This record gives sequence, C-alpha cells and structure tokens, in this order.
Amino acid sequence: MSSPLDADIEQTLVTAEQIQSKITQLAAEIDADYGDREPLLVGVLKGAVMFMSDLARALHRPSTMEFMAISSYGSGTKSSGVVRILKDLDRDVAGQHVLIVEDIIDSGLTLSWLLKNLTARHPASIEIVTLLRKPDAVKVHVPVKYVGFDIANEFVVGYGLDYAERYRDLPYIGRLRPAVYAG
Ligand code: IMP
Ligand code: MG
Repeated sequence: MSSPLDADIEQTLVTAEQIQSKITQLAAEIDADYGDREPLLVGVLKGAVMFMSDLARALHRPSTMEFMAISSYGSGTKSSGVVRILKDLDRDVAGQHVLIVEDIIDSGLTLSWLLKNLTARHPASIEIVTLLRKPDAVKVHVPVKYVGFDIANEFVVGYGLDYAERYRDLPYIGRLRPAVYAG
C-alpha cells in the first residue's frame, strides 16, 4: 500500500506480484509460439498501456508498438455498445504479425469490432492477448489466444483500468468501495 488511492479500494483482486509473474508466463508462451516472427503489439489506449509496456519488456524478442484509441465506455461503468475510433494506428499493418494487447474483455464488443477492423487491413497474422477476462466474454466468439486472469463479473480498477480516468496508476487490480461511486 503506497498511494492515497489505496484507501478507495475495498479489496485487492490481483496483486502486483501476481500480475508480473503472469506477464512473465504469457511472454514465454508468446516467445515459444512466434518462432522468428516479430510481433507488432497493438495496444488499446489507455487501459492497455501498463500491460503492454511490461509485456514488451518481458518478451525475449524484439517487438514494435502501435496504439489505437477507441471508445466503448463513457466515464461510468456500463458498456455503451458504441465503438468509435479516437486515434488510429500511425502505420499500415499489412504483412505484419499483429498482436492486439487488451487490458480487459467484458462484453467483448470492443474486441470483436477491433479484430474485424484490423483483419481488413491484411496483417500476415493476428492474435489477441488480454490481461483480464470477465465471464460474459465467453458469449462472444472472439478467439483470444492468451488470457492472463479470468475474473468475476464486477467492475475493477488499477494497472491501467480506470474509474472516471482515475486509478490507472495503481500497480495492482482491485474492487472500488461502493462509496466511491456514490460520491
Ligand atoms: P467490452 O467492450 O465490454 O469488452 O469492454 C472493453 C473495455 O471496457 C475495456 O478495454 C475497458 O476499457 C473497459 N472495461 C471493461 N470492464 C472494465 C472494468 O471492470 N474496469 C475498467 N474498465 C473496464
Ligand atoms: Mg480499454
């Protein structure tokens, strides 16, 4: 515990240590699968930033990075179902080995839209890695190759995930106190 924000967290669900050891494990799987291919990590801003930077450093191979900003959530905790590009990739991904890096899959709306959008740009391959997955995600037929943690169907913050743009800087993932939403 080292941030004033810690007081707003009701329960820690995934510790910083658990996150880092899972990333080491995911990176080893990706390293083994990719052979001599160099992945182009495509991160979804802003939530995936922490995960992507730790994952890139855990891989024992070069990778390159691109970011996209899309919106499917407002400042609240419910999916709006509306996906909109706020910032597109800076380069063409045709012929690249795209690895989409996501923070969390909830309804899967964001990801199924993104997968379709990026596939249309003709990458040589396309896979998905997500740190967290909620139960509803299994209803959506999006093939997610690498999953860090399956969590319960509740709103979480930390390690990139926000509530009203805050809590992204926490090194762990936790559940907010209800009083925080009420306030
Ligand atoms: P989906 O489209 O419902 O799968 O939602 C995906 C996006 O919603 C994620 O990339 C997050 O930005 C956001 N999101 C979903 N669940 C949570 C949560 O529990 N905390 C914070 N953000 C979330
Ligand atoms: Mg996100």
